[in-house]
Amino acid sequence: MRVDVVTIFPEVFDQVLSSSMLGIARGKGLLEFCAHDLRDWAIPGVHRQVDDAPYGGGPGMVMRPEPFRAAVRAVSALDAREPVVVLMTPQGVPLTQRLVERLATSERMLLLCGRYEGVDERVRGLADIEVSIGDYVLSGGELPAMVLIDAVARLLPGVLGGEDSTAEESFSWGLLEYPHYTRPASFEGEDVPEVLLSGDHARIRRWRREQAIRRTARSRPDLLLGADLTLDERAIADDERSRATSRDKEGL
Ligand code: ADE
Repeated sequence: MRVDVVTIFPEVFDQVLSSSMLGIARGKGLLEFCAHDLRDWAIPGVHRQVDDAPYGGGPGMVMRPEPFRAAVRAVSALDAREPVVVLMTPQGVPLTQRLVERLATSERMLLLCGRYEGVDERVRGLADIEVSIGDYVLSGGELPAMVLIDAVARLLPGVLGGEDSTAEESFSWGLLEYPHYTRPASFEGEDVPEVLLSGDHARIRRWRREQAIRRTARSRPDLLLGADLTLDERAIADDERSRATSRDKEGL
Protein backbone atom coordinates (compact mmCIF):
# COMPACT_ATOMS: atom_id res chain seq x y z
CA MET A 1 0.00 0.00 0.00
CA ARG A 2 1.10 3.55 -0.67
CA VAL A 3 0.24 6.29 1.84
CA ASP A 4 0.74 10.00 1.16
CA VAL A 5 0.11 12.68 3.76
CA VAL A 6 -0.38 16.40 3.15
CA THR A 7 0.48 18.47 6.24
CA ILE A 8 2.26 21.64 7.30
CA PHE A 9 4.42 19.47 9.61
CA PRO A 10 5.79 16.70 7.37
CA GLU A 11 8.78 16.17 9.67
CA VAL A 12 6.66 14.91 12.60
CA PHE A 13 5.97 11.68 10.71
CA ASP A 14 9.65 10.67 10.33
CA GLN A 15 10.26 9.09 13.72
CA VAL A 16 6.95 7.27 14.04
CA LEU A 17 6.95 5.94 10.48
CA SER A 18 10.53 4.68 10.79
CA SER A 19 10.10 2.82 14.08
CA SER A 20 8.78 -0.55 15.09
CA MET A 21 6.16 -2.29 12.97
CA LEU A 22 5.78 0.64 10.57
CA GLY A 23 9.53 0.77 9.96
CA ILE A 24 9.59 -2.99 9.31
CA ALA A 25 6.58 -2.73 6.96
CA ARG A 26 8.40 -0.06 4.99
CA GLY A 27 11.64 -2.03 5.03
CA LYS A 28 9.83 -5.05 3.56
CA GLY A 29 8.29 -2.84 0.85
CA LEU A 30 4.75 -3.55 2.11
CA LEU A 31 4.15 0.11 2.96
CA GLU A 32 5.36 3.09 0.95
CA PHE A 33 5.03 6.39 2.77
CA CYS A 34 5.56 9.98 1.72
CA ALA A 35 4.78 13.17 3.69
CA HIS A 36 4.27 16.35 1.63
CA ASP A 37 4.50 19.94 2.88
CA LEU A 38 1.25 21.78 2.19
CA ARG A 39 3.29 25.00 1.95
CA ASP A 40 4.74 23.72 -1.34
CA TRP A 41 1.31 24.69 -2.72
CA ALA A 42 0.92 27.90 -0.63
CA ILE A 43 -0.70 31.09 -1.89
CA PRO A 44 2.10 32.86 -3.87
CA GLY A 45 3.87 35.47 -1.70
CA VAL A 46 6.67 35.76 0.80
CA HIS A 47 4.78 34.18 3.71
CA ARG A 48 3.90 30.85 2.03
CA GLN A 49 0.41 31.42 3.37
CA VAL A 50 -2.01 28.51 3.72
CA ASP A 51 -4.62 30.09 6.02
CA ASP A 52 -6.68 33.23 6.40
CA ALA A 53 -9.16 35.00 8.68
CA PRO A 54 -12.68 33.53 8.76
CA TYR A 55 -15.44 35.22 6.77
CA GLY A 56 -18.10 36.38 9.19
CA GLY A 57 -15.51 37.12 11.85
CA GLY A 58 -14.48 35.16 14.90
CA PRO A 59 -11.21 34.06 16.44
CA GLY A 60 -8.37 32.20 14.77
CA MET A 61 -7.51 31.31 11.23
CA VAL A 62 -9.03 28.93 8.70
CA MET A 63 -7.01 26.88 6.21
CA ARG A 64 -7.62 27.98 2.63
CA PRO A 65 -8.89 25.54 0.00
CA GLU A 66 -6.49 26.32 -2.88
CA PRO A 67 -3.31 24.76 -1.39
CA PHE A 68 -5.21 21.55 -0.54
CA ARG A 69 -6.79 21.41 -4.01
CA ALA A 70 -3.36 21.85 -5.70
CA ALA A 71 -1.72 19.34 -3.33
CA VAL A 72 -4.35 16.65 -3.94
CA ARG A 73 -3.94 17.06 -7.73
CA ALA A 74 -0.14 16.99 -7.64
CA VAL A 75 0.26 14.19 -5.09
CA SER A 76 -2.41 11.99 -6.74
CA ALA A 77 -0.50 12.25 -10.02
CA LEU A 78 2.69 10.85 -8.44
CA ASP A 79 1.39 7.29 -8.82
CA ALA A 80 -0.93 5.52 -11.25
CA ARG A 81 -3.02 4.11 -8.37
CA GLU A 82 -6.06 6.26 -7.52
CA PRO A 83 -5.90 7.15 -3.79
CA VAL A 84 -8.74 7.07 -1.28
CA VAL A 85 -8.59 10.69 -0.08
CA VAL A 86 -9.17 10.93 3.69
CA LEU A 87 -9.66 14.20 5.57
CA MET A 88 -8.73 13.88 9.26
CA THR A 89 -11.27 15.95 11.19
CA PRO A 90 -13.23 15.74 14.46
CA GLN A 91 -16.36 16.14 12.32
CA GLY A 92 -15.67 12.88 10.48
CA VAL A 93 -17.08 9.38 10.89
CA PRO A 94 -15.56 7.51 13.86
CA LEU A 95 -12.54 5.35 13.10
CA THR A 96 -13.55 1.79 13.95
CA GLN A 97 -11.81 -1.53 13.34
CA ARG A 98 -14.37 -2.19 10.60
CA LEU A 99 -13.41 1.03 8.79
CA VAL A 100 -9.72 0.23 9.31
CA GLU A 101 -10.31 -3.19 7.68
CA ARG A 102 -12.04 -1.54 4.72
CA LEU A 103 -9.25 1.00 4.23
CA ALA A 104 -6.63 -1.76 4.48
CA THR A 105 -8.01 -3.26 1.26
CA SER A 106 -7.24 -0.11 -0.74
CA GLU A 107 -4.02 0.18 -2.70
CA ARG A 108 -3.41 3.79 -1.83
CA MET A 109 -4.51 6.44 0.69
CA LEU A 110 -3.96 10.19 0.64
CA LEU A 111 -4.46 11.73 4.08
CA LEU A 112 -5.17 15.45 4.51
CA CYS A 113 -4.27 17.03 7.86
CA GLY A 114 -5.95 20.26 8.93
CA ARG A 115 -4.63 22.64 11.59
CA TYR A 116 -5.68 25.75 13.48
CA GLU A 117 -9.38 26.38 14.10
CA GLY A 118 -10.42 24.47 11.03
CA VAL A 119 -10.31 24.12 7.30
CA ASP A 120 -12.43 25.91 4.74
CA GLU A 121 -15.63 23.96 4.08
CA ARG A 122 -14.63 23.55 0.42
CA VAL A 123 -11.68 21.33 1.39
CA ARG A 124 -14.21 18.67 2.40
CA GLY A 125 -15.21 18.25 -1.23
CA LEU A 126 -11.72 16.93 -2.01
CA ALA A 127 -12.10 13.96 0.33
CA ASP A 128 -13.74 10.60 -0.30
CA ILE A 129 -14.22 10.19 3.45
CA GLU A 130 -13.80 12.30 6.59
CA VAL A 131 -12.48 10.43 9.61
CA SER A 132 -12.35 11.26 13.33
CA ILE A 133 -10.31 9.26 15.84
CA GLY A 134 -12.54 10.22 18.77
CA ASP A 135 -14.83 12.75 20.38
CA TYR A 136 -12.16 15.22 21.38
CA VAL A 137 -10.41 18.00 19.49
CA LEU A 138 -6.69 17.81 18.83
CA SER A 139 -4.65 20.73 17.53
CA GLY A 140 -4.25 19.11 14.14
CA GLY A 141 -4.78 16.05 11.98
CA GLU A 142 -1.20 14.74 12.21
CA LEU A 143 -1.63 12.50 15.27
CA PRO A 144 -4.95 11.16 13.93
CA ALA A 145 -3.25 10.41 10.59
CA MET A 146 -0.53 8.44 12.40
CA VAL A 147 -3.18 6.50 14.33
CA LEU A 148 -4.93 5.62 11.09
CA ILE A 149 -1.71 4.59 9.32
CA ASP A 150 -0.67 2.37 12.24
CA ALA A 151 -4.08 0.67 12.48
CA VAL A 152 -4.21 0.03 8.72
CA ALA A 153 -0.57 -1.00 8.22
CA ARG A 154 -0.69 -3.78 10.82
CA LEU A 155 -3.48 -5.45 8.82
CA LEU A 156 -1.52 -5.52 5.55
CA PRO A 157 -0.62 -9.09 4.61
CA GLY A 158 2.91 -9.93 5.75
CA VAL A 159 3.34 -7.02 8.19
CA LEU A 160 2.63 -8.95 11.40
CA GLY A 161 4.03 -12.40 12.07
CA GLY A 162 1.24 -14.97 12.28
CA GLU A 163 -1.91 -15.01 10.16
CA ASP A 164 -3.94 -15.34 13.38
CA SER A 165 -2.34 -12.47 15.29
CA THR A 166 -5.12 -10.01 14.47
CA ALA A 167 -7.97 -12.52 14.21
CA GLU A 168 -8.83 -12.77 17.93
CA GLU A 169 -7.92 -9.32 19.16
CA SER A 170 -10.18 -6.57 20.48
CA PHE A 171 -13.14 -5.75 18.23
CA SER A 172 -12.62 -8.65 15.82
CA TRP A 173 -15.38 -10.56 17.69
CA GLY A 174 -17.19 -7.26 18.22
CA LEU A 175 -15.89 -7.58 21.82
CA LEU A 176 -12.90 -6.38 23.80
CA GLU A 177 -10.01 -8.79 24.03
CA TYR A 178 -9.69 -11.51 26.69
CA PRO A 179 -6.86 -11.25 29.27
CA HIS A 180 -3.37 -12.45 28.33
CA TYR A 181 -0.78 -14.01 30.63
CA THR A 182 2.82 -15.14 30.23
CA ARG A 183 5.53 -16.26 32.68
CA PRO A 184 5.82 -16.19 35.65
CA ALA A 185 2.87 -18.36 36.68
CA SER A 186 2.76 -16.50 39.98
CA PHE A 187 3.68 -12.82 40.34
CA GLU A 188 3.48 -10.90 43.62
CA GLY A 189 0.57 -13.01 44.82
CA GLU A 190 -1.32 -12.94 41.50
CA ASP A 191 -1.59 -16.32 39.84
CA VAL A 192 -2.25 -17.14 36.21
CA PRO A 193 -5.77 -18.65 35.99
CA GLU A 194 -5.53 -22.41 36.32
CA VAL A 195 -7.46 -23.04 33.08
CA LEU A 196 -4.63 -21.52 31.01
CA LEU A 197 -2.18 -24.06 32.42
CA SER A 198 -4.57 -26.98 31.86
CA GLY A 199 -3.70 -27.71 28.24
CA ASP A 200 -7.45 -28.22 27.63
CA HIS A 201 -7.93 -26.11 24.52
CA ALA A 202 -11.72 -26.30 24.40
CA ARG A 203 -11.92 -25.09 28.01
CA ILE A 204 -9.39 -22.35 27.31
CA ARG A 205 -11.42 -21.15 24.31
CA ARG A 206 -14.60 -21.04 26.41
CA TRP A 207 -12.84 -19.20 29.25
CA ARG A 208 -11.40 -16.61 26.88
CA ARG A 209 -14.75 -15.97 25.24
CA GLU A 210 -16.42 -15.55 28.64
CA GLN A 211 -13.69 -13.18 29.82
CA ALA A 212 -14.04 -11.12 26.63
CA ILE A 213 -17.81 -10.85 27.23
CA ARG A 214 -17.37 -9.90 30.90
CA ARG A 215 -14.73 -7.30 30.10
CA THR A 216 -16.86 -5.80 27.35
CA ALA A 217 -19.91 -5.69 29.64
CA ARG A 218 -17.83 -3.84 32.25
CA SER A 219 -15.96 -1.33 30.06
CA ARG A 220 -17.90 -1.04 26.80
CA PRO A 221 -21.49 -2.24 27.24
CA ASP A 222 -22.42 -0.30 24.09
CA LEU A 223 -20.47 -2.87 22.02
CA LEU A 224 -22.69 -5.71 23.25
CA LEU A 225 -25.63 -4.34 21.25
CA GLY A 226 -23.89 -5.25 18.00
CA ALA A 227 -22.13 -8.43 19.21
CA ASP A 228 -23.16 -11.89 18.04
CA LEU A 229 -23.86 -13.66 21.37
CA THR A 230 -25.70 -16.88 22.21
CA LEU A 231 -28.44 -16.80 24.87
CA ASP A 232 -26.00 -18.22 27.46
CA GLU A 233 -23.50 -15.53 26.54
CA ARG A 234 -26.17 -12.83 26.89
CA ALA A 235 -26.78 -14.18 30.40
CA ILE A 236 -23.06 -13.85 31.21
CA ALA A 237 -23.13 -10.24 29.95
CA ASP A 238 -26.23 -9.47 32.05
CA ASP A 239 -24.58 -11.03 35.11
CA GLU A 240 -21.50 -8.83 34.64
CA ARG A 241 -23.67 -5.73 34.11
CA SER A 242 -25.61 -6.37 37.33
CA ARG A 243 -22.34 -6.88 39.26
CA ALA A 244 -21.10 -3.55 37.83
CA THR A 245 -24.37 -1.86 38.83
CA SER A 246 -24.12 -3.13 42.42
CA ARG A 247 -20.45 -2.04 42.57
CA ASP A 248 -21.58 1.45 41.38
CA LYS A 249 -24.28 1.53 44.08
CA GLU A 250 -21.72 0.62 46.73
CA GLY A 251 -19.62 3.52 45.46
CA LEU A 252 -16.71 1.34 44.28
N1 ADE B 1 -8.22 16.80 14.11
C1 ADE B 1 -8.40 17.36 15.32
N2 ADE B 1 -9.02 16.54 16.16
C2 ADE B 1 -9.27 15.38 15.45
C3 ADE B 1 -9.88 14.16 15.75
N3 ADE B 1 -10.41 13.90 16.95
N4 ADE B 1 -9.93 13.22 14.78
C4 ADE B 1 -9.42 13.45 13.57
N5 ADE B 1 -8.83 14.61 13.21
C5 ADE B 1 -8.75 15.57 14.15
